[in-house]
This record gives sequence, structure tokens and C-alpha cells, in this order.
Amino acid sequence: MCGIVAYVGGREAADVVVDGLRRLEYRGYDSSGVVVAPGAGAALQVVKRAGKLSVLQDALRTVRLGGALALGHTRWATHGRPSDANAHPHLSEDGRLAVIHNGIIENYLPLREALQRDGHVFGSETDSEVLVHLIEQAYAGDLAAAVRSALRQVRGAYALVAAHAGHEEVVAARATSPLVVGVGEGEQWLASDVPALLPYTRRVAYLCDGDVAVMTCAGVRVTDMDGRELERPVETVDWDAEAAEKGGYAHFMLKEIEEQPSVLQQTLGGRFAPDGRDVLLDLSLDPSAIDRIVITAAGTAAYAGTVGAALLETLARVPAGVEIASELRYRDPVLDERTLVIAVSQSGETIDTLEAVREARRRGVPTLAVLNVKGSSLAREVDDVLYVHAGPEIGVASTKAYLAMLAAFALLAVRFGRARGRLDDERAEALLRGLRGLPQALEAALATRSRARELAERLATARSALFLGRGINVASAFEGALKLKEISYVHAEAYAMGEMKHGPIALIEPSVPVVAIATTSARYDKTIANLQEVRARDGVVIAIASEGDGTIAAHADEVIEVPRVDELLSPLVNVVPLQLLAYETALRLGRDVDQPRNLAKSVTVE
Ligand code: F6R
Repeated sequence: MCGIVAYVGGREAADVVVDGLRRLEYRGYDSSGVVVAPGAGAALQVVKRAGKLSVLQDALRTVRLGGALALGHTRWATHGRPSDANAHPHLSEDGRLAVIHNGIIENYLPLREALQRDGHVFGSETDSEVLVHLIEQAYAGDLAAAVRSALRQVRGAYALVAAHAGHEEVVAARATSPLVVGVGEGEQWLASDVPALLPYTRRVAYLCDGDVAVMTCAGVRVTDMDGRELERPVETVDWDAEAAEKGGYAHFMLKEIEEQPSVLQQTLGGRFAPDGRDVLLDLSLDPSAIDRIVITAAGTAAYAGTVGAALLETLARVPAGVEIASELRYRDPVLDERTLVIAVSQSGETIDTLEAVREARRRGVPTLAVLNVKGSSLAREVDDVLYVHAGPEIGVASTKAYLAMLAAFALLAVRFGRARGRLDDERAEALLRGLRGLPQALEAALATRSRARELAERLATARSALFLGRGINVASAFEGALKLKEISYVHAEAYAMGEMKHGPIALIEPSVPVVAIATTSARYDKTIANLQEVRARDGVVIAIASEGDGTIAAHADEVIEVPRVDELLSPLVNVVPLQLLAYETALRLGRDVDQPRNLAKSVTVE
């Protein structure tokens, strides 16, 4: 949420920074800005604009920003509406100091009032601007010292970068919001997220909370808040630059949907035991020392967790449930040392999820992350990590990471089932065989795109839509409804199918289509009965059904067929037409699929 990029080195710094912002625009697109230090002590030059990055790029066509050091920002507004004045960077009144900030300064109001009493004039409504004035006030020739002094006065979350006309250095600091250093030869980068760095370097060092870094062409020196030197290991990221490019697709979301068969192979790769009856996961936790599992996450990751809980309960017979992270952390939950808390996250930076994990750790509970992004904050805070290996996910609406999370949970549930002696050879073998065959099933599921395109009209003109599922596919219904809402802005609600008659059935009418997950299951007959209840009330049913189902056509207005797979694995296949329905509906309505309104990826504020 909000993207920072900074560069110092031999290239045209503004170009590098704007290119980096383009790669981070999924983190926010309410405004953007860039500041360049022309060097030799000359005043900083800034251009910033409300709106998407393209507005800034247009403005930059008429201004030349030359210099070897630049900072840039793409904003998701918290304090202060999107406007030129509220866009970052924020400059000191003399134009010699620039600051960019991600996060929230919680005590900004008293600080602002005190600074105003001291004569500081504010040009924006943001909480961030207090940082410029605090640093300016503390500055006595040493920028890093001034940043440290300012930060001692603030409370809250931040990733910040600062530059001063008098120094060829960028000073950065982090508390909660992510920052990663890109290491080069005679040039260095800083960014909120790795994709900004990928075209230039894959050697990175992750800053930790409390770090203050000074970046020059020669390298990056990291210290703590008291100026003591710290070592931050340089790692090589295994994502390539192409993985974070659209690669000829109209949208990242479509690319990421279509990548799912190969993503699944990456998630599963090297994780099957040679006898085909168990799973190899490099985890230190002992499944037999666990009596209960609490899965915590937000949004799509929480729906993945819901499928995960069902898999773990069914295959390992361990009680498992999902707690929304933003609730768990404030709920005084009952957790003990035999409860495993599993945090699920694509980014590993979602503040609600991080805080829920911190709460669990404070209570001495073992923690595991089902996680995509290596080097993220979550990876550093848990006892164990199960990486899902989805590669960089750029589309704001999560797709391939969700699928990879489901696959990772299937592996984990098999491992737990085997370790706890609750899953026999035959069932384990059948499930793992089913998982191996899934990439092919996903290819077939992707072929439903043309059908989704035909049906998009029904959803695009709907007053609202109901998504219904049963058993392990209740979560699929929630995920389908969320995808539709967030990228097409068509209102949708999801329910466990059996709940419909307890209230939501009142909504049924032709302009409220029902998307029903009706693939083969142990409760198929109940599903059909529920569909009849809808149709008896003039409801329109779009059914996701198993290939070759001879009966479904009689109970649905429209059918989307997907390959027949084990019921426990069916959420992995069923989500594909749901993603495609949302995508095609959004396209039909002319929505900005990759940058839906009001949203940003990686929610690092509460
Ligand atoms: C929806 C979506 C969000 C995220 C949620 C958690 O498409 O992307 O609901 O799933 O914000 O994000 P992560 O997984 O990064 O913790």
C-alpha cells in the first residue's frame, strides 16, 4: 500500500524512479510524484500530480528532471484526499529537503500543532508532512541524524525516504512498512517491493523495523535508531523481470489467471514423497503436538484459509477454523501452546495479519505462514514458512496466489494427516495423484473463458448477484463474490447454499442471478434441491458443474462445465470460472481491472 522508489547512481535517476513506480502502481494509484536532486547543492526539483501515474508521466513530458538521485511515490490516500498538494514527495519551505512516507503517523495532530506554533507552514492535509518539518527542525548538517531525531518524536508505522539538496545520499527508515534495498555496482535502489528492482538487480537486502539506512552510489549503510552499525544480508531473489511484466496480456489479472497451471506446478514441485503417499515439507513443527489450528488472514487469503481449514479437519482430523486477522488481534483469543496459528498471506505485509501473528507469539503459540513473498515481514515473524511459490502477483485482485495457497494447504493437510496417522495409504495416494493431475484440469478450466464472456452480460446488468456453495466450496462462493465486487463493482453476496432459505432467498428475482457451485459432491442432491428453490421463484441460475453432468441442465439456466476432480480438490478448479466471470464482467463494464477504484494491493495500514 503506497509505493516508494529511490535511486542513486549513474543513470537518469528520474527515469529509473518513474519506471519503478510503474511497477509498483498496484500499491496505490491516487497520486504520484518524483523529486530529483540536480546535485552541487542546487534546490530539489519536484513534480507531483493527483491521479494515476500516467498523469505524472504526462506532466514529466514537458519538464526535464536531470540528476543522479531521485525519490518517487505512488499513493493510496489515508489522511487527506487525493490532490496535487497531498501527493508525495513533501518539500520543506526552502525546497532543500524532500520526504516520502508510507504508513500512518498516529500522533501527527499534536506534532502538527506544535510545529505550527513554532512557525512551520503546512502545505498539505497529510499526516506525513509533519516528518518534513520535524527533520528540517532537527537538521544540523547530518541528514541521518536529523531523521533519527524526528523519528524519536513520532508514533506509528512508516517507511520513509528523505533527500537533502546538500547531500548525495538518500536516508531511509522503516517501522512496519516494507523497504528493500537493491544492490548494484556504483548504483543503488530502494523500493517498497521487489518488482520495482527486477529490471536492474536481483541482489536485495531487506530492511527491518528500526533500521535507518544511508544510501549513496557506493552502497548502503544500515544502522539502528542510535546509529549503531547493522548487517543486513544480501540475498538473490529468484523472480525474473518478465514474471512481473504483462507480457502481451491486456491485464495482469488475466495473465495471472492464465498462469495458474504452471503456478500449481511450482507450488507442488519437489514436494511429493517418492512413494507417492506423503508430502515433503521443510517444516520444524510437529503435527502430533497440535490439538487445534487457528488460521488467520484477510480477504482472499482468508478464503484460502477456509478451504485450508476444511482440508486439515477432513484429512488430519484436527479442529481447524478461520479468524479474520483484523478481529483476532483484538479479541483476546483463547490460544495455548498446543494451538497452531497459521497466517496466510500473498504479500506477507498485510498489517492485520502481521499483528494477529504478533498477538499469537505474545501468547507463546507456535506459528506457521502460508506465504508467497520471500523476505517479507511475515516470513521473519513466524516459526515456520510454507512458501506457495506463485511468483510476483501484480494484479490488485488476487488470483494465482489464492490457487497456490489452496495447493499448499492440500499438501499441508496430507502431511498432517499422515503424521497424525489419520490418513491411510490409499486415500493419500489418491489425493496426491489428484493434485498431480490438477495442472491439466486447470488448463481445461481456463477454456471456460469464452463461456464466461457470454455470461458476463447477465452479471453486468444484474442489480446484485448471489454466490452459493456447499461444504468445501462455501469458500469458493465467497471468493467468487469478492472477485466480482472488487473489479466490476457489481454488488454480490455469498452464502452457504443451505442458508439461502433462512433469509437471502427473499432477494431472488430475475435481476439477481445466482452463481451456484454445483460440481460433483457428496451433497449434490441437496444442491439440486436448492437450485430448484431458486428457480421456483423466477431466479436465474448460473451453475458451475462437473463435465458430463447430465442432470444439471434441467436445474440451471446456464451451465459452465469444469473438469471432474476429487471433491476436496474441487475449489482449485472451481475458482477459475469464477475469476473469469469477474474478469469478463469488469471488461464489459469498462472497469479498470488491474487498478480497481479505492483499492490497493498489500494493505499495510489498519
Ligand atoms: C482480494 C485481495 C485481498 C487480499 C488481502 C490479503 O482480491 O487481494 O482481499 O487477499 O488484502 O492480502 P495478503 O494475501 O497480501 O495478506
